[in-house]
Amino acid sequence: RNATSHHHHGGKVTTRSVAANAAPPLDPFSVPMPVPQVLRPSYRTSKLDQYVLDIQPANVEIFPGFKTAALTYGGTFVGPTILATEGRAIQIKYRNRLKEDANVHLHGGHNPASSDGHPMDVIPAGGSKVYTYPNRQPGATLWYHDHVHHLEAEHVFRGLHGFYLLKGYDEARLNLPSGEYDVPIMLRYGKFDEDGQILFSPYDDVSTRTTFLVNGRPQPYFKVAARRYRFRLLNASNHGDFKVNLGGREMVQIASDGGLLPAPVSRKEVLITPGERAEVVVDFSDVPVGSSVVLESEWGPVMRFDVDRRGFDTGGPPAVLRPNPTLPKPTVEREIRMQLSDDQQVFWINGKPFDPDRVDVRIKRGTTEVWRIYNDDSDWGIDHNFHLHMVRFRVLDRDGAPPWPGESGLKDTVSVPPGTSVRVQATFGEHLGRFVYHCHMMEHSGPFQMMAQMEIVQ
Ligand code: C2O
Ligand code: CU
Ligand code: CU
Repeated sequence: RNATSHHHHGGKVTTRSVAANAAPPLDPFSVPMPVPQVLRPSYRTSKLDQYVLDIQPANVEIFPGFKTAALTYGGTFVGPTILATEGRAIQIKYRNRLKEDANVHLHGGHNPASSDGHPMDVIPAGGSKVYTYPNRQPGATLWYHDHVHHLEAEHVFRGLHGFYLLKGYDEARLNLPSGEYDVPIMLRYGKFDEDGQILFSPYDDVSTRTTFLVNGRPQPYFKVAARRYRFRLLNASNHGDFKVNLGGREMVQIASDGGLLPAPVSRKEVLITPGERAEVVVDFSDVPVGSSVVLESEWGPVMRFDVDRRGFDTGGPPAVLRPNPTLPKPTVEREIRMQLSDDQQVFWINGKPFDPDRVDVRIKRGTTEVWRIYNDDSDWGIDHNFHLHMVRFRVLDRDGAPPWPGESGLKDTVSVPPGTSVRVQATFGEHLGRFVYHCHMMEHSGPFQMMAQMEIVQ
């Protein structure tokens, strides 16, 4: 890993020694990639589905033959997948079986403030809380994760993350791979000791988090048929990008954070920064049965697709997927500046660390705004990205140049490389109250406070 993956976390970082990843040795592609179990509703009414999910410690198998102490949703290192349908509400009762505060944020969800998992809105140890998700938003790959003030980075690193797949009305007619051919894939970095136990420090140099975890297993293989698949890629890392390729094989990107793109985009390489999603359709029909395709990143092989059987499908994605809604005229413009603090102890948004008692911006509900987000850390070369709760935005431009490929649809998280700026536009409906925005490098936003909050008012 080179300097671009090295992050300062304040002045203290240079004085700490950094333990290396000493994970149990394992050959690449020697464990199967699991597909997370789908959570079953405990009750269904004519209007909504109700679920119960425990936030609990669990010993999970990440390295074969080792039990790793993790924090989990429902007992598995990647929590169960929650399946939702556009227009049909879901309620989830989360019971906190940990010995400390926990909560749940549905990343990408357009939800009331009381169900957003604000950092100060926690479920105390032994308590429970019902979150309501109306699902009045277009279909998209969402994910849920812990968001407790100052604890979120450690909680997520130890396993408090899972998928929430919202199916849109418009998806059925698009002939996209479905069922077992529609596979969520969570990519992230991990760090372990020789007994397979998780090593977490907010001061860690991310270049020591060298274990690639794919749906919670290190560098796994996944058996596929020789046909098209829909892969929903999520980077759930606290830190560190995934820039992935299939050795030159085409990946047809069909969706990003906010769901389907207006039109498919042919990619040879896809960059996913922490919190972002990229959905790609990959066609294995020309791969001989018995051979493999490796998903590579710039740091090495991430996983392997083993084509072990013939397959059949009825063609690729159509030329038109989901046209973008027309952009309303913005009435407010703001600047967001992301920067290491002068004393290098915290990260600032507009010159301030996060203060949950302070409202940074007030927005009248329904207003359309353009935010220009700057990464002012070109001196240090520190990567940031930017995530906005509750709304999805359009990327207008990058320093006046067109957005990157794959940024043509609605997004909730966007990469802001050092010394650059990105303009985004959002309409701030419909929920009132306080929501946060932050860098999604979780050590930046959590322990080092690179977070701020908006209040949507009437
Ligand atoms: Cu994915 Cu505020 O978070
Ligand atoms: Cu979020
Ligand atoms: Cu950051």
